[in-house]
Amino acid sequence: MNARNDNHGSCTPSRREFLKTSSAVAVAGGLSLARSAHAAGNDEIKLALIGCGGRGKGAAVQALNNAAGANVKLVALADAFEDSVDQAHKLISKRVPDKVDVPEERRFAGLDAYQKAIDCGVDMVLMCSPPGFRPQQFEAAVKAGAHVFMEKPVATDAPGVRRIMAANEEAKKKGLLVAVGHHLRHEVKHREVIQRIHDGAIGNVLFQRAYFNSSGVWVRPRRPDQTEMQHQVRNWYYFTWLSGDHIVEQHVHDLDVCNWVKQGPPVEAQGMGGRQVRIGPAYGEIFDHHAVEFTYADGSKMFSYCRHIPNCWGSFSEHAHGTKGSVNIEGHGRAVLRIDDAEPMTIERGPDGHQLEHDHLFAALLEGRPYNEGDYGATSTMTAILGRMASYSGQIIPWDDALKSEIDLCPKQSAWDAETLVKPGEDDLYACAMPGKTKVL
Ligand SMILES: NC(=O)c1ccc[n+]([C@@H]2O[C@H](COP(=O)([O-])OP(=O)(O)OC[C@H]3O[C@@H](n4cnc5c(N)ncnc54)[C@H](O)[C@@H]3O)[C@@H](O)[C@H]2O)c1
Repeated sequence: MNARNDNHGSCTPSRREFLKTSSAVAVAGGLSLARSAHAAGNDEIKLALIGCGGRGKGAAVQALNNAAGANVKLVALADAFEDSVDQAHKLISKRVPDKVDVPEERRFAGLDAYQKAIDCGVDMVLMCSPPGFRPQQFEAAVKAGAHVFMEKPVATDAPGVRRIMAANEEAKKKGLLVAVGHHLRHEVKHREVIQRIHDGAIGNVLFQRAYFNSSGVWVRPRRPDQTEMQHQVRNWYYFTWLSGDHIVEQHVHDLDVCNWVKQGPPVEAQGMGGRQVRIGPAYGEIFDHHAVEFTYADGSKMFSYCRHIPNCWGSFSEHAHGTKGSVNIEGHGRAVLRIDDAEPMTIERGPDGHQLEHDHLFAALLEGRPYNEGDYGATSTMTAILGRMASYSGQIIPWDDALKSEIDLCPKQSAWDAETLVKPGEDDLYACAMPGKTKVL
């Protein structure tokens, strides 16, 4: 983790340069990828899982059960904590017993466990640890020449996004496949309805609405035997350097869909947010609600809302409104398309995108096809960080300034006894951002 603060100054493109570079390198990367991807019949593909929690276990089972027919074997497990490694080993071995070969010597715990798993000579790495660690872990996998499936979000601050972008370019040059866990990109109804929007079904898109309103997630309260670093990494959701806040950690799914509709990221954002209900030492420093207005280059708006408060209206959905009609897409439900006075058209969800994303990744790997989701993964994470910057500061934040930000939220040292940048006060509470005072650029 000492490397976290290296290399930040080398890649600070404007929005235009960012888009141009991404697509230009995608073409070049595609050529090299086709030459070197794993197209060798049905050889065994050795897989490591980094981050053995809820999503890690699910993603591993989905990868091992991929419908593409790739012969995948889980050979290494890594997590910050030993109990998570053990639980994952038990569960995955039970679900897919013949596809797990992880003896004790390839089960690693600690903050350097990721490197040990990568060093087992694996072909692909699944990264499902907290997103604050993603840039460091992605860089290490690319350096080792491994294909990557990494969960969203891919970073928690602008320096982290730039590190992902730089490593993604390296991955393309090396012909490595890079998948990002935006499973909605793989859902049948999202693909169909967004294709229809791009074909003009609802006319020009004037505005979009996006929601991730829920009652919140787990709490893992402090234990007396933990260092401050152990507490923060265990309870990672509630620390901005680790999760990005819930606008980045969860709502990034909806923001990614809106960028997909607009075929690029917004140019600026302004918003508001705070914590009204979820206050206490167990809840770290993040907000419990954000409302952000994003503006795209053509002047169209995207109104984004995310909330973690029980007993309120819940929704995980995206909506686009155009000059000729509108579309409502339920994250995990159906899509409904309304065009002028015609009968609404319903498109059913189809299979779960969490499985499809692995089916598509392994199909590309077997066929030797280019596959890189790193560009939109980085863009969508940066969009969510832009929204957080707007709600934390209360200012209008331009995309270009946000992406160039040098504010690095992550501690320079990676050790259980290392000093954390965020610390509890005398009342055990962590300070949270104060709009009007907090600086984000
Ligand atoms: N695509 C989706 O629908 C979806 C759903 C849930 C979670 N996620 C994403 O998956 C990731 C993990 O979320 P989760 O719900 O599984 O959380 P979790 O807390 O259940 O699991 C995270 C695991 O990472 C481990 N970890 C912490 N620091 C680590 C480090 N430095 N190296 C290795 N392991 C480390 C933790 O100990 C824990 O076991 C997050 O990025 C989250 O946003 C995506």
